Amino acid sequence: MAATSLTVPPSFSGLRRISPKLDAAVSSHQSFFHRVNSSIRLVSSSSSSHRSPRGVVAMAGSGKFFVGGNWKCNGTKDSIAKLVSDLNSATLEADVDVVVSPPFVYIDQVKSSLTDRIDISGQNSWVGKGGAFTGEISVEQLKDLGCKWVILGHSERRHVIGEKDEFIGKKAAYALSEGLGVIACIGEKLEEREAGKTFDVCFAQLKAFADAVPSWDNIVVAYEPVWAIGTGKVASPQQAQEVHVAVRGWLKKNVSEEVASKTRIIYGGSVNGGNSAELAKEEDIDGFLVGGASLKGPEFATIVNSVTSKKVAA
Ligand code: PGA
Repeated sequence: MAATSLTVPPSFSGLRRISPKLDAAVSSHQSFFHRVNSSIRLVSSSSSSHRSPRGVVAMAGSGKFFVGGNWKCNGTKDSIAKLVSDLNSATLEADVDVVVSPPFVYIDQVKSSLTDRIDISGQNSWVGKGGAFTGEISVEQLKDLGCKWVILGHSERRHVIGEKDEFIGKKAAYALSEGLGVIACIGEKLEEREAGKTFDVCFAQLKAFADAVPSWDNIVVAYEPVWAIGTGKVASPQQAQEVHVAVRGWLKKNVSEEVASKTRIIYGGSVNGGNSAELAKEEDIDGFLVGGASLKGPEFATIVNSVTSKKVAA
């Protein structure tokens, strides 16, 4: 595919544009994808005779960059006050949706002290309306505290707590029906990757969401390989990109072309201030879900601002 056949957007606005030709190529065969990928790199290379006179945004979807900070079961009132203060004073690129997910017990504290620039997510929610469910937190309660999002299907819920695909799908459907956005996590374990089952596992987890939800309008998919979470062993940009392309392809085939284009597919697993820019350059990486590094305000801001590496210099 000649680099000149790519459609060049007039300027950077929001996220990305894609030519129908590139779209077709990305959603077809992987080896072909790699050739297309090389073409895109050529477009951005200053030595290329096909060099664009204007900025090229190397993105395959059409959604806004999205970065979530998953604080997990960390923090105290004091450490969270410090984190909020660091986030409030950070400079964040405008064209990014930014969300943090504090432990439930600190959501109220965070909501009342954090800038409105950053939305708040729950880390989990009950599968239906609240009631006699000891230890659970309902979607209604998250909304009452001002949450806009909830993380569902995180691997720690799947593999430590034992939540199953179907149950997670029901949770997503209920949260969406009440107006919360869902950060829908998927990802394979190391042994599944080594057995060549990465796509099978991710597609099965995606299908459980797809079977349960009436619409994908308010869903962000987080691809988080379990072997990369909290291990310091980040997926390479190519490894992540490969799965993101496959996820987008799955959505296109099984849901719709529009959903495949609009749905943000974010990467999670040992993302930090040092690796986020390289990962963000991949066309199908639409943002990040960050654990450990989201506990440090300045580093989280660096990750949010890695959106700038999407903007390939003209
Ligand atoms: P990590 O966690 O960034 O600490 O690897 C990511 C996540 O679990 O969402």
